[in-house]
Amino acid sequence: MTTERRRRLHLNAFLMEAGHHEAAWRLPDSNPRADFDLQHWIKLARLAEDAKFDSLFLADGPAVIGTGEFRPPGQLEPLTLLTALSQATSRIGLIATVSSTYNEPYNLARRLASVDHVSGGRAGWNIVTSAGADEAANFGLTDRPAHAERYARADEFLRIAKALWDSWESEAVLADKAAGRYADPGRLHRLDHKGRYFSVAGPLNVERPPQGHPLLVQAGSSEDGREFAARHAEAIFTAHRTYERAADFYADIKARARAAGRDPDGVVVLPGIVPYIGSTEAEARAIAQELDELRVPAYGLRQLAAVFETEPSVFDLDAPLPGFILARPKLEGSQSRSDLIIELAEREQLTVRQVISRIGGGRGHFELVGTPDQVADAVTAWFEGGAADGFNIMAPALPSGLETFIEEVLPILRAKGLFREDYQGTTLREHYGLPIPANQFHHAAG
Ligand SMILES: Cc1cc2nc3c(=O)[nH]c(=O)nc-3n(C[C@H](O)[C@H](O)[C@H](O)COP(=O)(O)O)c2cc1C
Repeated sequence: MTTERRRRLHLNAFLMEAGHHEAAWRLPDSNPRADFDLQHWIKLARLAEDAKFDSLFLADGPAVIGTGEFRPPGQLEPLTLLTALSQATSRIGLIATVSSTYNEPYNLARRLASVDHVSGGRAGWNIVTSAGADEAANFGLTDRPAHAERYARADEFLRIAKALWDSWESEAVLADKAAGRYADPGRLHRLDHKGRYFSVAGPLNVERPPQGHPLLVQAGSSEDGREFAARHAEAIFTAHRTYERAADFYADIKARARAAGRDPDGVVVLPGIVPYIGSTEAEARAIAQELDELRVPAYGLRQLAAVFETEPSVFDLDAPLPGFILARPKLEGSQSRSDLIIELAEREQLTVRQVISRIGGGRGHFELVGTPDQVADAVTAWFEGGAADGFNIMAPALPSGLETFIEEVLPILRAKGLFREDYQGTTLREHYGLPIPANQFHHAAG
């Protein structure tokens, strides 16, 4: 008899206003103000939960996106939104991006611990260091801190956050009414941390979260990002356009986790997929084309310029990417995404116009235009071939793209025995098969 547990696919519903495609808000059925409509988010969260997704995810950045002219530029603060969604759902994991560059560890550890408490152990933190230039100006800075500096700060941030979540041992609360003793002070731990970026005394003023620590997710696949992920991340969001690149990344991350003394199975790798699904290939192409025709090229150019830290005027729409970009200058913002775009342009010999069309649907993530079987086959091939432990499902239009994925693709994955029929646990960690971390202070009180 074999005791080996079958490897199960993990699915995260990466939600974004009216959809991931930059023109999704212009579709006839779309709600262009979806961002600020709580009912829109509740509908999406319940859709994903009814389909037994491991989690949903809200991206974020503390600045308006671009000028706001061509795409909804703002969004609700995601931990506030997750708190509302936690009361409209009961099982699905709830992950949000919060920047380690523009927050302080004490405040953020407290907010995340609070979301974990009010959601009954379903909170996850996508740790980003914030690649954008616009964000810095909202925090008293003239430019973003350098790439390596941001990751160094993130590392210290994480060490403090983990210690704060551990600062209440599980036996700390006595609530002994007869003796009049509420807590055992010996089990509430100070950090007295004094480091390069932060000084934090502790303990946290919130009990240890139900999951020990909220699930720690990371998105940033540069060299610095990978090293950071190997040390701290339990799930990794990443973007790859081909199976080969995804498989290389997967092997590299698992090796780095092992080298950092961690169990590689404790690091769940989730590349993104942007599926345009039609009952025939022609129908799928028509869905993609409708969105493509609604794009405003000026928006794509600005986004491209932002990634390469330059001006839109350096691009000629009908020429290849300029030579100075193909020479891969050292960028302080988003290193893995800029590499991905250059690689895509070179591999397929694209003009700038074609590049911005290709990244308009999912900012560079793997796009697949096809039938439910073709989407399920690709998901299966990446999962079984060792390129993914699961996927970020990034519907180009919402809710329609998520509904189609659930109705048409999930049954195929279930028939293959790859995806759960029902939840087995109640916490986000349980869905991903990840343990509650040991409390670093536990030995201190004996
Ligand atoms: C699926 C996914 C989601 C992301 N979400 C966010 C986000 O919400 N906010 C953000 O500032 N960056 C986000 N990023 C970008 C990364 O944090 C990072 O800036 C980018 O991947 C470049 O990192 P690198 O310089 O380490 O390569 C996301 C990346 C991926 C792959």
